[in-house]
Amino acid sequence: MRNKKKILITGSSGFIGASLCKRLLMESDASIIGIDNMNDYYSVALKRSRLSELEGLKKDFTFIQGDISDKSFINKLFQENDFDIVVNLAAQAGVRYSIDHPDVYISSNIIGFYNLLEAIRNHPVSHFIYASSSSVYGNSDSVPFSTKDRTDQPVSLYAATKKSDELLAYTYSHLYHIPMTGLRFFTVYGPAGRPDMAYFSFTEKLLKGEKIRIFNYGKCQRDFTYIDDIVEGILRIMEKGPLREYSLYNIGNSHPENLLEFVSTLSETLIENQLLPADYDIQEYLELVEMQLGDVVATYADTSALQNDYGFHPDTPLKEGLERFVRWYKENYREL
Ligand SMILES: NC(=O)c1ccc[n+]([C@@H]2O[C@H](COP(=O)([O-])OP(=O)(O)OC[C@H]3O[C@@H](n4cnc5c(N)ncnc54)[C@H](O)[C@@H]3O)[C@@H](O)[C@H]2O)c1
Repeated sequence: MRNKKKILITGSSGFIGASLCKRLLMESDASIIGIDNMNDYYSVALKRSRLSELEGLKKDFTFIQGDISDKSFINKLFQENDFDIVVNLAAQAGVRYSIDHPDVYISSNIIGFYNLLEAIRNHPVSHFIYASSSSVYGNSDSVPFSTKDRTDQPVSLYAATKKSDELLAYTYSHLYHIPMTGLRFFTVYGPAGRPDMAYFSFTEKLLKGEKIRIFNYGKCQRDFTYIDDIVEGILRIMEKGPLREYSLYNIGNSHPENLLEFVSTLSETLIENQLLPADYDIQEYLELVEMQLGDVVATYADTSALQNDYGFHPDTPLKEGLERFVRWYKENYREL
């Protein structure tokens, strides 16, 4: 980004938020305020280590611990700062957790999101970018998923909150003419990723000699998207700016992987990195079980809109991305 911009990034200690902050700090002279409530949904030590890496860059980065569902905190933040761009990545993520912990989804993903919209209404910004999710497509069998498809049958509360955010953002952009862009991310993975996600928790279990549960008897497909591709997509959208008042984009790899093939690629990568023995047989560690409530069978992104508008689509091959994740895990994670 050429001009010095003031940017608010929420969820800045999270996987995607910290990766985005890092690239922005390294490649631009933007002034960044990062906020995060540092909740313990997964390892707080991992969130702290991402944050200390950002602070260690000694660039124009200010971290404030706070919660987007706290209206007075958000209002004060916007009164004291004149933001050019706001990127909302703070949310309660995870499909399965939303079955037993609905309250936090409503407070972070709905109330928190609404607080940001109201703050932006009172202190307009040039662009509000926010994370949605491929989960809004539910069990649609029209693949690849296009942003033109209907998305009114979410099958988890998490998905319903993300769809609600899209609707609220549409209304605010329409009423107050503030450009808003929603990004539907598809299964993001990579170094310093989220321990609650399958590629990460499978790695931990396999290294402990435990079995892993493969849902829907392995008949699931996921469009795994490497973190650097997600960050590149967000950066291009931030740099070029909004092309219309309201937009939605898929950011996914457009290359769905069958879960059993994914697991075998992961175990090969763990063997190549000497984390598992050369004669390790993954088949002995698989427990094929039925579909989980709230899960979808397949995800597959149509990224033509992103390609047309911003000249980019994710394309890091799974093997390459997993290799980078496993190397990071080997070097760092056991200490966290
Ligand atoms: N990682 C994926 O595969 C994926 C896929 C689709 C959508 N998304 C969305 O992308 C965004 C970022 O996801 P992520 O993978 O980096 O998740 P993450 O959990 O690593 O990051 C979210 C961060 O937000 C913080 N947070 C949560 N609630 C908050 C609140 N009320 N106030 C302030 N901070 C809060 C958390 O502490 C966390 O650090 C989320 O909106 C998520 O729903 C992620």
